[in-house]
Amino acid sequence: MALVKPGILFQKAYQEGYALGAFNVFNLESVQAVLRAAQMERSAVIVQVSMGARKYVGDLDIFLRLLKMMAEPLEVPVCIHHDHCTDFEICKQSIDAGFSSIMIDGSKLTFKENIRLVRKVADYAHEKGVWVEAELGSLPGFEDDFFSEDNQYTNPDDVGEFVRESTCDSLAVAVGTSHGGVKADQDLKIDMERLQKISNNLPGFPLVLHGGASITSSYIDTINHYGGKVEYMKNVPEPLIRETVKLGVCKVNMDVDNFNAYTAAIRRYMTENPAIYDPRKYTAVGRDAFMNEVRHKMSEVILSSGRYKASDYAKDLGKSIRTVDHD
Ligand code: G3H
Ligand code: 13P
Ligand code: ZN
Repeated sequence: MALVKPGILFQKAYQEGYALGAFNVFNLESVQAVLRAAQMERSAVIVQVSMGARKYVGDLDIFLRLLKMMAEPLEVPVCIHHDHCTDFEICKQSIDAGFSSIMIDGSKLTFKENIRLVRKVADYAHEKGVWVEAELGSLPGFEDDFFSEDNQYTNPDDVGEFVRESTCDSLAVAVGTSHGGVKADQDLKIDMERLQKISNNLPGFPLVLHGGASITSSYIDTINHYGGKVEYMKNVPEPLIRETVKLGVCKVNMDVDNFNAYTAAIRRYMTENPAIYDPRKYTAVGRDAFMNEVRHKMSEVILSSGRYKASDYAKDLGKSIRTVDHD
């Protein structure tokens, strides 16, 4: 089973009222962490590669082959997605390399330019059966080392035309989350009314939430207690992320909490075990902390744990199911 096209995953998530967790991976341990978590939680999962990870791994083809080889023996369904592709060329390369799903991020463009770019990507992707996630509105926070103050909530009146014209398969919306958190006194909130309107205007269509990590302060406490100097950032707390799943959100991207869990565990281990020099000892501790955080997201936030049933996939395996028809 393991590798499946995204359509069936989105359809099940939408119908059954949970979301797919999408987690960025960048090395062997992070892939193990996410796949092991999915297997233990009996949950479908989306494994993502960001532009930053692409730079870090160096050879995208080899990394993608590794991902597929590691996912294939699993029982639970896995989809491999390229997060935040910046332009048509990057999308084309990712599609040609063998990703079954990609995101084209035209969120910084004007409405019409965004539609034109997504449509061009979708025409190429759909020919090859590849799923296209687009974004309308834009989130504040970090993307590829740049901090953007830009916070443009998605306008519910625009989403119908955007989806129809661009022919995207899922839509990332800006409704209150941020990438990696922002410096603020208060937690951020989701504009539930806006999300409800977006959802009403796109019945049956899967929405995506980026910046879904809640930046749990206990990890930052641990990191800083053991010598770190990580800044406290605010994002949307987990109970509110969980609420969005009832309003058409079918995919939630969450990274920073996993990264903080990984870093906190390694800092603590190294401080408490100063004689250890074998990297396998401390990277294993980091990997397990990453895995436990992903398991927590699946069971307590996006509610995908225990949803996998082999029989659900038997007849549709490998088929891409679109949840809306475009003209
Ligand atoms: O939205 C997520 C960011 O694009 C992740 O990028 O892996 O380069 O930190 P990064
Ligand atoms: P966070 O780590 O802030 O949740 O962002 C993840 C994300 O949106 C990746 O695309
Ligand atoms: Zn994102």
